Amino acid sequence: MPTPLDQLRAEHRIIEQVLRALTGLSDRLTRGERIDRASFDRLFDFLITFADRRHHQKEEKCLFPALGQHGVPRDRGPVGVMLQEHCTGRALIAHMKRAASAYVGGDPHAGTQFAEHARNYVELLTEHIQKEDNVLFNVAEKLFDDRSMKSLQDQFDAAEAELGISPQKYVDDAMEMQQNWVVNIPPMNP
Ligand SMILES: [Fe+2]
Repeated sequence: MPTPLDQLRAEHRIIEQVLRALTGLSDRLTRGERIDRASFDRLFDFLITFADRRHHQKEEKCLFPALGQHGVPRDRGPVGVMLQEHCTGRALIAHMKRAASAYVGGDPHAGTQFAEHARNYVELLTEHIQKEDNVLFNVAEKLFDDRSMKSLQDQFDAAEAELGISPQKYVDDAMEMQQNWVVNIPPMNP
């Protein structure tokens, strides 16, 4: 039976689709392709609502405190690093938002600035996800017994109900953004 950690890992796969899309969007901006406001709005809705408010909040409000109850400290070690990276991610989203809004408003340099922040964000989140999948979640799976897993699942269910968003919309958005924005690299000539 899937555990709450498997649920977080599955959300990582959805977030990774958007990271690939974001790389494509940045490449398009760098080569001068025009991106419209609606595309940025859709991207930020995903990053803020799904990746941060749904996924990161479940980690911060449910998983990390549960790890704390099993002796894993919150202010240092792997959890401390994860919290710091969530913070850096939020700052980079704020930078991307400012650059996107300047770009949509006609600033000719803002597209390049957006692309720089976006590449930093993709790099941060890619490594962050690998650390969670391969280190932190394995620690949780070793420490938590069935009762702790059940309690964590109940907390996830309550957090999702409180947030009250439809995850399916974001699953569909992630797939579409990946399909629309990933730049296909043409095969090299022999
Ligand atoms: Fe995560």
